[in-house]
Amino acid sequence: MIDLRSDTVTQPSAAMRSFIMQAKVGDDVFGEDPSINELEAKVCALFGTEAALFTPTATMSNQIALKILTHPLDEIICDRTSHIYNYEVGGYAFHSGCSIRYLTGDRGIFTAEDVLRNINPEDVHKPITRLVSLENTSNRGGGKIYPVDVIQSIKKVCDEHQLMLHLDGSRLMNAIVASGTSPKVYGELFDTITICFSKGLGCPMGSILTGKKVHLDKARRVRKVFGGGMRQAGIMAAACIYSLDNNVNRLEQDHQHAKTLGACLSNLSYVQDLLSVETNIVIFRLADEIVDNHFIQHLASHDIHAFTIGDNWVRFVTHLDVNTTQINEVVEVLQNYHT
Ligand SMILES: Cc1ncc(COP(=O)(O)O)c(C=O)c1O
Repeated sequence: MIDLRSDTVTQPSAAMRSFIMQAKVGDDVFGEDPSINELEAKVCALFGTEAALFTPTATMSNQIALKILTHPLDEIICDRTSHIYNYEVGGYAFHSGCSIRYLTGDRGIFTAEDVLRNINPEDVHKPITRLVSLENTSNRGGGKIYPVDVIQSIKKVCDEHQLMLHLDGSRLMNAIVASGTSPKVYGELFDTITICFSKGLGCPMGSILTGKKVHLDKARRVRKVFGGGMRQAGIMAAACIYSLDNNVNRLEQDHQHAKTLGACLSNLSYVQDLLSVETNIVIFRLADEIVDNHFIQHLASHDIHAFTIGDNWVRFVTHLDVNTTQINEVVEVLQNYHT
């Protein structure tokens, strides 16, 4: 099976499983799990951040961030394609009592000028603009990397207008590997950053929220009320430590595989549109005469699996459980598909 539906489908490798077996554990609600403490310290050292908190999912890390950086009746600025707006069940309203001002960026990327234009004036009719949330890489933007200079100018606007800045960095490691940007650059710019281990890094579960101590102190309590205070969860933190040591540099291979798919798609007459490939996500649009579900079924008949994302757009995601031979197989099937 060649599973290009998502990088969340990866299986923990034999080496990761045996590393997990050796994990030292304790009660993390008491702050006594050595593996979790080690993972949190490792992430702080990597990003140059003051504090970090282990959570089960990136959704929980994002939701905790929104909660600690806002008050009810505040407004959050994000892109209209962002995960926090589309795929977290409206948690910004449910948990934090906030509204969303969504911006229409280019593949998930909006600018400092966009932010500036959307800060609410002091007016009793309007929510208070409090937080800007970016996504890097942008999932629905086809794995696009947020340019650092754009983030820096957004940060400047945030500082000038007393706005908080959060990063949904579920695929930040992909951006770091592809762009060569130091993790510390991101650590410096954001109040909070979500990192996810169960995507390209290949862990069964786990996420980290990292950032300033003043925020993370509150985050620990919010994680508890969200039901995320775990006990001997160092079993899972060990997998995350393993992935930071072994699965980061290899993301380059996933990016190469995605570029191979992109190069193939760019030469096919039945592909009408293709977002340029920057990391491990390939998004393309089929010509109007093709029914996307038929195309997906055709791939499935070759045991290749992918998702449609609406309006004849299809998404492929590469990851550590798809090797070069399999990518070449996909290329062959794509080339032999006749409309
Ligand atoms: C950009 C982004 N943020 C957050 C998440 C949430 O991750 P999880 O479903 O593991 O909580 C996802 C999941 O695909 C994602 O793509």
